[in-house]
This record gives sequence, C-alpha cells and structure tokens, in this order.
Amino acid sequence: MYKRGEIIRRSSEVGSGRVKQYELSKGKKLTQITTFCPDMIGPGPTHLYVIEDEALTLIDTGIPTSLAKKIFYYWRNQQIPDEIKDLPDDFSETELITGLETAGYSIEDLELIIITHGHPDHYLLGNKIVQRSNARVSAHVLDTDQICNPWTISKKVFEGRPRYEAMGMPLPASSAQDYHKKAVLDFSNMSLKVDCPISMDGLLSLDGIQSQYISVKHSPGHSPGAICLIIGSQEEEHKILICGDVLLYPITPHPDDLVTYLRTLDELKQIENIALSLPAHGKNIRDHYRRVNSLQNHHRNRLEFTYNSCYEPKSPWEIASMPRYFDVFVDPNKFNPMAGNETFVHMRLLEMAKGLYRPKVDGSVHYFQNTGESFEDVYRRVLAIINDRDTTAL
Ligand SMILES: [Fe+2]
Ligand SMILES: [Fe+2]
Repeated sequence: MYKRGEIIRRSSEVGSGRVKQYELSKGKKLTQITTFCPDMIGPGPTHLYVIEDEALTLIDTGIPTSLAKKIFYYWRNQQIPDEIKDLPDDFSETELITGLETAGYSIEDLELIIITHGHPDHYLLGNKIVQRSNARVSAHVLDTDQICNPWTISKKVFEGRPRYEAMGMPLPASSAQDYHKKAVLDFSNMSLKVDCPISMDGLLSLDGIQSQYISVKHSPGHSPGAICLIIGSQEEEHKILICGDVLLYPITPHPDDLVTYLRTLDELKQIENIALSLPAHGKNIRDHYRRVNSLQNHHRNRLEFTYNSCYEPKSPWEIASMPRYFDVFVDPNKFNPMAGNETFVHMRLLEMAKGLYRPKVDGSVHYFQNTGESFEDVYRRVLAIINDRDTTAL
C-alpha cells in the first residue's frame, strides 16, 4: 500500500515546478516532478516520475523550454504570451534538477530513463540528462523510430500536409519546406538514442536490470509504442499505474489509431488493484476504472455525434469545426491538425464499421451515412471490430 502523496514544493506562476512524493511499500519512494510545457496550445506541464527501484529510474524527461517555445509558438506562427517569452531557455531543465534535489537526489544519480512514448514533450530533454548522468535510455521498440530520428517532427509535417488538405482544412501560410528549414537551422539534433528497447510486457527486464517492482504494459493507440508502467510487487494489493498520455484527466488523449486505443482501454480495465493512476499531464487519477469508463463513453458519444452529422456528405474539417464537437472553439479558418486528426479517426472507424462511406466531393474527401440505419446498429459493429483482434492485423 502506498501512502497518500505529500507536496514538498509548490507550483510556480506558470503552473509547473511542483514536487509531490509518495511513499511505497518496502520504504521505496515515487516522486512526481512537474516541468514546463505550454497549456492551451500544448498539453500543459509534463509530470516526470522518479522511482527508487533496482536502478534509480526517471520516467519521461519533459521538453527543454527553448524547444517548447520554438515548436509550439515560433514555428507555428502563434503569438507567445509575455510570461512564457521571458522564461529562461533552461527553465524546465532547472525545474527538474532542483526538483530532484528537493526530493533528495541529484541528476548524476539517475541510472535509467524510461520514455513512455515518442512525443516530443516526453523525451526532448533526454540528451541533457544523459550528458550529466550517464543514465541508459529505454522505450518501447515501436516508438524508437520517433525518438531516435531527429527529423521525426519535420517528417510528420511533410506527411500531414496532403492529408489535412484532403480533410478540407485550410493550410498554414508557411510551407512544409519552411518548417523544415527552421527545424534544421534552429536545432538539428531533436533525437534521443534509445539504448535498451522494450519488447515485452511483464516485469521490466533490461540488459543488467531485472526489476521486481516495475511491470510494463504495452498500451498503443495514442502512439504505437506507448507503454504504461505498473508500480508494485506482484503480491501488492494497491498498485500505482504510470500511464503517460494513455489516460489523462481532465483532457482526453488524442488517439492516433482509435481501434487500437479502444482495445487498450479495454485492457487497462482488466488490470486489477490499480489504486492510483499517474498521468503525464493534468490531474492525478484517483479512480482508474471510472476514468477508463468515462473515456470509452467519450469516444462512443463522439462517434455518435460524427455519425449523426453525416446525414449529408461532410468533410472531416466541417465536422471538426462544428459547434460543440470539441469543448474548445475550433476556428474553421485556422490550421489545426490535432482537431482534424481527432475527427478523422472517428470517421475512419465508422467507415470500417460500414456506417459511413466516402465519396470525393468539391475537392476534398467527404463521409456520408451508408444506409441511414440507427447509430446503435452501427455501434454494435464498431464494438465487434474492437473485440476482433484479427480485424486490423492484415
Ligand atoms: Fe503524447
Ligand atoms: Fe504528452
């Protein structure tokens, strides 16, 4: 059984910097250190975790403030608020270093870094930590290409552009080439070498490290190689789940593959004795099972909204920018890849379930109700796809 967390340092005005410590069984400690990452335009401050295991282990690294400013504001031509513009370039790094010291460690003590998934807010500070600590880096093998390849972000911009155009979304004024040039000029090493790829679920077993306390659960759908970590020995009744971006509260994680993500939610419900889920952003989740249920309901409702809106042909972007589709305002005239992708994965699943079909109308891809049957009938087939693991294997 773990003891209720104790806040040992409070957040600063930009909402990060907090250090919260949990006492686990056998006197081990788990520390949550919150580091800067922009809210609203980004997912909000990133929580990192330090676990006293066989190796002193850091889960996720956060993003250097200099890169957060570039990626979230300058490269996207977004206005940067004064309080963020004035932050020192090494702000998140300092939050981590002083957070470790507040918890009784130094950065040099770190022996292992586990990356929950290959999104930039989770691994880009890794090189700086490795330089000072010699820690080895581990991540699921299916996300190693995202983490190790310095051109991942640029590649996604090139790949994304024709897709967003087909969705009917207005494209940004700057081209993919402009974006790439800025990335090359500003920072050419946006990667982190993964030393020990994880390929199996179960107790963490890496070259030279055999944990009795940290178990891996591959949890794809938000990212192909996303993992959750179950903290606690086999016999423990109350375990903690470190869930990266797979479960978040109050925001909902964006699936890159909705079928896979919904299968992951089903699996996370089956893990017994989770007393607390600790995400990478937002609030800690006290009722794991309720949060999983509510995320399942959220996607069911979004599928229903999407299906009912396609009584006449609609492009993904028309749906994404409809009032109330998202609980934040999506400006139909502004490029917004997150909103477009989120809508598209719901339309794609309805198409797989033969509820929607897609003709090409007016220069972009549209979706249209196939036979006009009730959503409940279509949703039954959606659930059949989620439950049939072979459906998407080929
Ligand atoms: Fe993520
Ligand atoms: Fe994230």
